[in-house]
Formats: sequence, structure tokens, C-alpha cells
Amino acid sequence: MTQGSLLRQILRYENRHDPYPLYAELRKTPVLNEDDAYVVSTYREVLTLLHDPRVSSDTRNMTRSAGIDLQDQQDPQDQQEGEATLPPSFIRLDPPEHDRLRRLTNTSFGPPHEPHRVHEMRGELGAIVSDLIGGIDGTGRIDLVGQFSYPFPVTVICRLLGVPREDESRFHGWADTLAASLDPMPGEDPTERNRAFQQARTELGMYLAGLIEERRRNPQKDMLSELATLNGPDGSMSTMELLSTAALLLVAGHETTVNLITNGMLTLLRNPQVLERLRADPDLSVPLVEELLRFEPPVQLVPNRTTLADIEIAGATIPKGASLWLVVAAANRDPLRFEDPDRFDPDREDVRHLGFGSGVHSCFGAPLARLEAQIALSELARRLVNPRLLEDPPEYRSNAVLRGPRHLPIACDDIR
Ligand code: HEM
Repeated sequence: MTQGSLLRQILRYENRHDPYPLYAELRKTPVLNEDDAYVVSTYREVLTLLHDPRVSSDTRNMTRSAGIDLQDQQDPQDQQEGEATLPPSFIRLDPPEHDRLRRLTNTSFGPPHEPHRVHEMRGELGAIVSDLIGGIDGTGRIDLVGQFSYPFPVTVICRLLGVPREDESRFHGWADTLAASLDPMPGEDPTERNRAFQQARTELGMYLAGLIEERRRNPQKDMLSELATLNGPDGSMSTMELLSTAALLLVAGHETTVNLITNGMLTLLRNPQVLERLRADPDLSVPLVEELLRFEPPVQLVPNRTTLADIEIAGATIPKGASLWLVVAAANRDPLRFEDPDRFDPDREDVRHLGFGSGVHSCFGAPLARLEAQIALSELARRLVNPRLLEDPPEYRSNAVLRGPRHLPIACDDIR
């Protein structure tokens, strides 16, 4: 195996079901320069760079040298033309612009560790899970993704934002295009993907503009209404900022959680003794979900950052203006940080994973995603009688960054 081909090998679909041996290879060179990008894979270095203010998420600082396109990346041409294209959402902005928009969004969601929205939804989450499991015909082959792990977070994020659930077929394709655009594509011409990405973003923005217009006239208790009528100490969001934020929340709110729940059930079915323990003790779901976020993180690499200065790290110099890929899934299995890292162990005492990133951009929706996965997995464990995998490994989605099974075929004896 040549070092220079590692990123490409990781991106290759045939390695999607188990990229972990490649990540182990990658960690041998903590800062690897290939395909005009710097790929960082060890825990200490990834964590350090996630907190380094010289590492920018701002699309305007990005170089296109690596032939890599990103969520929210805009062609400078589009930026000058303004209006038609949405501005970057706060995931692609640096402080202070990032902080202002994140704070404004928080006023509706709630403070980082105790979001009132999440507390208020606890009962509702249980009811949605219960209905979905109740609707599964347990006598035949079940596709856990189509019948449960996808519809659950979609329903939740729609209710939270106030997006009609029945519109899922409209935004599904746009969300898929935006999720796919996160993957690096070294050496390839990004033009076609940029075009598809911009079109999906514009169409999603136009769709959300209609909803927001309606909510301004007739506010409800949902987040879209609150964000549209904000007027606090930080001011309010412009219409374009609001559209970008709503698009970010809608896509980030379900494209990731679906994989946490599916990866979770897959891991439990591969570790039946843990599944048994969860069935007897639903509280195990709390440490179990943390270990899952370490062991099988739904976001495998934090997409392209740009260095604003030369950065010395792990004996290497990352030059100013470089594209940086932070492989959190490799960092999460770094043996220098976690003992026996390839073992799934919900009893680990110290599981400070990077599954939600870290630093100023650490996942905004983490409290919601955690609660969704805890309720979903403990209820599946309780209600499915003798569940078993019908395919292992299952078929994966093509995405390398937002990695997870496309389908998870399982069978069970009954549903309680
Ligand atoms: C940011 C993971 C669920 C909203 C992030 C980041 C990661 C992540 C790794 C950091 C990205 C970066 O540093 O560039 C996940 C995972 C989830 C999940 C694994 C599910 C298991 C959610 C949900 C929401 C959400 C449910 C919305 C309700 C966001 C937002 C950001 C973000 C808005 C940007 C934060 C910022 O830039 O300040 N997420 N996420 N995520 N996530 Fe999540």
C-alpha cells in the first residue's frame, strides 16, 4: 500500500463497510500531505486543530487546489451576484460572524447543555418511536433504515422546525445532494458537483422561503417561526441568514442521526450480549450511545478547513492556505488515546470522542441527537424479539463523510 493513495482508498466504495484498517494505516503519519490536502488522523492533533483559531471554516478562505468541494462553498462569481445563492450557514463561518448566528439560533433552541426544546420533546420522541415500531410488520424482512432510522429523525426535525412532514419527498433529494457534496474528490473536476450542489441549495432555500413567509404572517411555536420573528440583544437574522440556518438545521438534523441509529443497531446485533444488557437496563443507552459515537461515528471526517497561517504540528508544517481534513473516525480509534480502541465497550470510563467535533463548531444538535439515539435503541432492544441481521456487512450509502448503511435488513420473531 503506498502512502500517497490512502485518502483515495478510504474514499473508494469497496472500503466503505470497514475503513478502520485504512485509518490505522493513516495514523502512522499523523499529518499526511497528499492530493494537495493535509489529512490529520491522530486524536491529539485533530483535537488541537479543531480548537486552533488559525484553522478557518470560512468558505471565503478556501482554496480550490485540491479539487475538493464543500458544503456551503460558493463560487466567488456567485457571491458577487449575491441574491440568487444562499450565503454560507454558520458551520462555514468563523467567529465573530459564526458566534452571532449560533447564539441567535440558540435563543430558540435553548442553552447548549439544557436546550428547552429537547426537554419539551422528550415525550413526543418516545411517542414517535412507539408509533414507528408499532407500524413494522415483524413477520418478514425488515429494512431498519427505511422503516425506522430514517423516518424517525426526519419526523423529529420537521416538528422542531415546523416543516411539514409530508414534504419529505421534496427535500429528500436536495438533502442527499448536499450530504454527498461533503465528500472529498481529490483529482476530480468539481464543476458538475458544484453545479448540482448550488442548484440543490437554491431550491431548498426557495422551498424554505415559502414556509418562512407563511410563518411570519402566522407564527406558530416552532423554530422557524421563532427565528423569523427574533428580536433580542443580538438583533435578528436577515432573511438570507435565516434561510441558510434553516437549511443547515434541516439537513444536519437528519442526515447524521439516521446513521447513528442504524450503526447502533448494527453494532448491537454484532454484540448480542450488549443488546441483552440494554434490553434489561434501558439506562445503559446513555454510555452506549457515547461509545457508538466513538466507535462508529456518523461523521467520519470533518470537512475541509483552511489554515490562515503556517501551523507546526506533530513535527510537520502545514502551510498557510492549505486544505485540511480532520479524520475524527481515525482519531476516535487512536490507541494513544483509547485503550483497545477497536473494541466496542459501553463500559469505558473515559469516552471523550470527537463524534460531534469539538471547539466553536462542535455539534449544535448534540443533545437532541443523543436523546433520539438513546430512546430509539433502548426501545428497539425492548420491543424486537430475537432480532438478527440478514446481511452482514449491509449495503452502505456511497457517502464517505456521512457514512452509514443504506439498508439494514433484519428479521425478528415478534414485536412486543
Ligand atoms: C456540527 C456531528 C446531529 C446540527 C456538527 C459537527 C459534527 C456533527 C462532527 C462539527 C462540524 C464541523 O466542525 O465542521 C453530528 C452527528 C449527529 C448530529 C454525529 C447525529 C448523530 C445534529 C442534529 C442537528 C445538528 C440533530 C440539528 C438539530 C449541527 C449544526 C452544526 C453541527 C447546526 C454546526 C455547528 C457550528 O458550526 O457551530 N455536527 N451532528 N447536528 N451540527 Fe451536528
